[in-house]
Amino acid sequence: MKLEKIVSYLKQTGYVFQGSEIYGGLANTFDYGPLGSLLKDNLKRAWKKRFITESKYNVLFDSSILLNKEVWQASGHLAGFNDPLTECLSCNNRFRADHLITNYDNSINCDGWSNEKLLEFLNDKKIACPVCGKLKWSEIRQFNLMFKTNQGVIDNEANLVYLRPETAQGIFINFKNIQRTTRRKLPFGVGQVGKAFRNEITPGNFIFRTREFEQLELEFFCQPQTELKWFDYWLEEMKRFLVDLGLKKENISYHEHNEEELSHYSNKTIDILYNYPWGFDELWGIASRTDFDLKAHEVHSGVDMTYLDNETNEKYHPYVVEPSLGVERLFLAVIKDSLTEETLPDGTTRELLKIHPFLAPYQVAVFPLIRKRHQAKAEAVYELLSKELSVLYDETQTIGKRYRRQDQIGTPFAVTIDDETLANETVTVRERDTMEQITLKIDEVASYIKLKTKF
Ligand code: GAP
Repeated sequence: MKLEKIVSYLKQTGYVFQGSEIYGGLANTFDYGPLGSLLKDNLKRAWKKRFITESKYNVLFDSSILLNKEVWQASGHLAGFNDPLTECLSCNNRFRADHLITNYDNSINCDGWSNEKLLEFLNDKKIACPVCGKLKWSEIRQFNLMFKTNQGVIDNEANLVYLRPETAQGIFINFKNIQRTTRRKLPFGVGQVGKAFRNEITPGNFIFRTREFEQLELEFFCQPQTELKWFDYWLEEMKRFLVDLGLKKENISYHEHNEEELSHYSNKTIDILYNYPWGFDELWGIASRTDFDLKAHEVHSGVDMTYLDNETNEKYHPYVVEPSLGVERLFLAVIKDSLTEETLPDGTTRELLKIHPFLAPYQVAVFPLIRKRHQAKAEAVYELLSKELSVLYDETQTIGKRYRRQDQIGTPFAVTIDDETLANETVTVRERDTMEQITLKIDEVASYIKLKTKF
C-alpha cells in the first residue's frame, strides 16, 4: 500500500491533520483528530496494560520534559547526540549525509562512519542533491539534535534548558527514588509514556520521523551478567505484543547491530523493523545499555547509584535492558496492516479498517433506525453504553451508509435501535468484519462488546 493512500485516508477520516493547517502548516508537524487521538490513547493503554499492569516486574513513571542540563552532559547527549549534516552548496538545502547514502543504496548502514568517509562516499558515488541535482556537498559537520529553550524570564546561557530527546533519562536519574519508595528488588522495570523532541535534520515519511513524538520506554534494571537473558525475554514480549495487536508477521523483521553500529554503551541492540510503504524501517528498538547510564549519573551528580542486594550483601550498579517504541510509528504500522478494500457479494466495495477491536477509536456505534421514531430510545442506549465503552452516536443518512462509515473508521460493532427495541428491549448488533447481525437484550450489550474488544 502506498504512503499517499494512507495519508489521504487518515486526513479524510479525521485521524490525522496537518499541523497549523490554517496558517499554511508547520513543516512535519501533525495534529491528531478525534479518531487519531483515541487510537493513540488506545495504543498507549495497550502498551501500559501489557508492559506495566500485567507485568509483575514493572512500574509506571512520569518525569518532566525539562530536566537539569547536567543530565544531558552526563548521558552524553550534549556531546554526542548528533547526526551528520551536509549542505548542498548549489541550492543551500541541508540533508543528513547518512540518509542520502541509504536512499542511494538501502543495504548500506552508515552507523559509525566518520564525516570524511561519508563525504568521500557521496562524491565517489556521485550522489547528487535530491532537490537541484547538483553534486556540490559541503564539509560534513555533526549537528546536535536537542531542542533548546530558556527557563525563566532571562534569555541567556545560564538558564538554557533542553526538551528531552528521550524519556529514558528521567527514569535513570530517579532510579534511587523509585527503588527506595517501591522497595523493589532486582530485577524490576520502570516504564514511561511521554513526548520526546529531536531537531531532526530530515524529518519525513509523514508521521514516521518528526521532531515531536511520543515514546513508550521501559528501563529494566537487572543484575550484571543476567542482562542478555532479560534481553531475550523482553524481545519475545515485544514480538508477542505486536502480533497480538494484529501486525502481520511477514511485515516484521529484525536487525541486530554489529560492532560498528553498536552505541558505545551497548553490548547488544536489535531493531524491530516493520514493512512501511517505503520498505522495512525501525519500529522498536531494544538495547542492552549495561551500567553506563547509572554510572554516568553517579559520576556527574556525585550521588551513589548502586543497588544493595540484601540477600548477598553485594553492592553494584544494575544493568539495564531498554525496549523503546515510538507511538506514531506503531500508529502507522497498525493502520497499514488494517486498512483494506473489500468486494462484497453484491459486487460493491467497502473500505474497511480491520483494526484490533481494542484499538478502535469507538468500540460501538449506536444508530436509531428511523430518527424520529427511535431517537429517544437510541439516546438512552447511548447513555447506558457510554458509561462502560467508547461509543459513537449517529443518526444521519441511511442505515447502510452509517454502517459503511463505521467500517471505514474501524468501529467493530454497531447497535441499531428499531421497533423491536421499543417493543421488547432488544437491539440488533452488527459485527464489522463478518457483517453478521445478532439480536441481544439491551442489558446484555455492554458485557458482550467488552468481551469481544478486550486485549
Ligand atoms: N532511549 C532510547 C531511544 O530513544 P531511539 O532508537 O533513539 O532510542 C526509540 O528511539 C524509538 O523512538 C524508535 O525506535 C522510534 O520508534 C522512536 N523515534 C525515534 N526518533 C523518532 C522520530 N524522530 N520520530 C518518530 N519516532 C521516533
